[in-house]
Amino acid sequence: MKVFKTSQSLVEYLSIETRPLGMVPTMGALHLGHLSLIERAVEENQSVLTSIFVDPTQFNDKNDLVNYPTSIDEDLLQIEKISKKILVYIPEVDDIYGNIVESKSFDLAGLDQVMEGEKRSGHFQGVATVVTHFLKTFTPDRAYFGEKDFQQLLIIDHINRSLKLKTKIIGCPIVREKDGLAMSSRNRMLTPDQRNQASKLFEALQMVKSNAKKVPYRSLKTSVNAFFEKQDEITLDYFMITGPNTLKEIHLEQPVDQGRGFIAAYLGKIRLIDNLDMS
Ligand code: PAF
Repeated sequence: MKVFKTSQSLVEYLSIETRPLGMVPTMGALHLGHLSLIERAVEENQSVLTSIFVDPTQFNDKNDLVNYPTSIDEDLLQIEKISKKILVYIPEVDDIYGNIVESKSFDLAGLDQVMEGEKRSGHFQGVATVVTHFLKTFTPDRAYFGEKDFQQLLIIDHINRSLKLKTKIIGCPIVREKDGLAMSSRNRMLTPDQRNQASKLFEALQMVKSNAKKVPYRSLKTSVNAFFEKQDEITLDYFMITGPNTLKEIHLEQPVDQGRGFIAAYLGKIRLIDNLDMS
């Protein structure tokens, strides 16, 4: 395993590395979801690069940034277990941003105006800034992102196409704990009691899916609100069903034919998200 601290040293190294190159950008605190992306990249490419970088510009809440979990030593051990040939990029902030730590401004075609974008102002401009920086600098042939951040995946795919970058963006299925909780680095910040309750997000999505074709979307929303009102430890932030890839909310009076359900909820100060294909 080779660890690079600067993009310059990595770019030099990549000029002799065999292609295709698969990249898995992460913010570290790796879990089985990340590892499944890295494993897939190893299967499909000659060379694999993963980055560990907690991007400051995508955090609208400074406390969230300060408290974001890190576990570099453990992450490196996990990566090495998959393959000793993986390249790992662990930059400091200035290697990416220089002295001006701010996001660029991208036309995200309104995909950033709903759900996570609406709740976390500027978040997706930050994501687009750091991800396009990676794609332009390292020119991976494929880049892998989890469907847990489905809105992020659609936004990255959109920006990659609109900037005509050469990378193929690949979305990979959500990896879940036994009780259905979507794997996330934030899960390790939950207290044992909160952890016990956290699978309610998936439970709610499954309940919605089992009724989606039978009743209008409006009733599904009412049931989800009622479901979370009964939970002491969880506060629903939003629940929404959109077209499969549009992020546009479907019609309230119709049953769900096709679409994706999205949910965000707080357990104490920890905010979790999840989503499920409704078809
Ligand atoms: O999903 C993440 O972990 C981050 O948003 C990403 C894609 C690594 C960009 O910082």
